[in-house]
Amino acid sequence: MKPTSALLAALALLAALPVLAASAPGARAAILDGFAERARAADPGFEGFDGERGRALFEGDWGLGKPDTPSCTTCHGPDPRRAGQTRAGKTIEPLAVSVTPSRFTDPDEVAKWFFRNCRSVLGRECTAQEQGDFMTFATGL
Ligand code: HEC
Repeated sequence: MKPTSALLAALALLAALPVLAASAPGARAAILDGFAERARAADPGFEGFDGERGRALFEGDWGLGKPDTPSCTTCHGPDPRRAGQTRAGKTIEPLAVSVTPSRFTDPDEVAKWFFRNCRSVLGRECTAQEQGDFMTFATGL
């Protein structure tokens, strides 16, 4: 490689760095936008997400799904900044984005786990509003 092309290659790499660094927040923003779109479709009066409602969902003792999982905290523990445990004793990495930066970056994972976990705890799927509220809560911690 000539010195100039090496320099150009190095510059191109440097230019790409901010894009790489921004990809997780960008993925989260896209997922949250999707929830907002669905929440608005379900309720034209939708006024945005609220992390405190997300906290209430997380901490609530619902007992509406499976008898051994009355709350999100049953598996995730009371503090989303700390690890939780599955019923089988397997460690679950913290849900708080500040501790586990990969949280809420893969739309399929997010959809799969909300679907499963809301049914386990609430006995139904979570609404787009609830999912956005919870995501806002866990992202803001
Ligand atoms: C039966 C145990 C259990 C319960 C109860 C539970 N979860 Fe989970 N949750 C898991 C497991 C296991 C995973 C997947 C492993 C991982 O992501 O680390 C997970 C992953 C998630 C994720 C995926 C986050 C991401 O994108 O990486 C979200 C969101 C989530 N849970 C929210 C909730 C909410 C909200 C509740 C309450 C309504 C809840 N969970 C109740 C076990 C549980």
